[in-house]
Amino acid sequence: MTIQEIKQKTGKAAVEALVKSGMKIGLGTGSTALYVIQHLGLLVQQGVLHDIAAVPTSFQSAQECYKSNIPVYSLDSPRIKGRLDLSIDGADEVDRNLFCIKGGGGALLLEKIIAYNSDAYCLVVDKTKCVENLGLVFPVPLELVPEARVPVTQALERRGLKVTLREAVRKVGPVITEHGNILLDVLFPEPVNPVEWESAFVQIAGVVESGFFTKTKPAVFVGSESGEVDRLCL
Ligand code: A5P
Repeated sequence: MTIQEIKQKTGKAAVEALVKSGMKIGLGTGSTALYVIQHLGLLVQQGVLHDIAAVPTSFQSAQECYKSNIPVYSLDSPRIKGRLDLSIDGADEVDRNLFCIKGGGGALLLEKIIAYNSDAYCLVVDKTKCVENLGLVFPVPLELVPEARVPVTQALERRGLKVTLREAVRKVGPVITEHGNILLDVLFPEPVNPVEWESAFVQIAGVVESGFFTKTKPAVFVGSESGEVDRLCL
């Protein structure tokens, strides 16, 4: 199976296992999340699922919901009241504690808000994303206000981290997030404790959020080349 086929099959398995009619669902961003949304949309169109209320985490996932006729709400709408039954998302890396890195698609801020305001949380990944230590190969994204770029970069470099400003493609200058911020991609030289760093990052003035997600207990659906889907939870 190709990586895309694995993502699609694993996303479908997660939707079928976890989504029930009437649920308020947070929907992530990225190629895996798109497969999740498409399958959810199919089940809604077939009438298998009804009364679904979705909170998308980006322009991309909102557009996919519209295409799939999934009703879209914001977290503060009266139907949602700031709390979700379930959120489903992709991830960039997952470790054995089921801590993860997210934000490869630049949508980490809303992704974290839905993750931390959901009764249940599910990640869908292919096996290549399961790692021993987070942040050594795939960088941890940080979202920060543009004015803080230099001091935040200096603060991180002083601690031995490798910091790269995320540059836009087909636009000069940095990626600007959907919240008007910029992104730094941060690599660690050696294994670290993601719980400590999730707190440490947001202590630096100007950092809005980091792509370390350590405060949820996700069910992780892991797809492999053979077509098998494993479900990990702690
Ligand atoms: C989006 O900001 C990210 O958190 C994605 O969920 C993550 O990068 C996984 O993306 P893919 O599903 O495209 O691999």
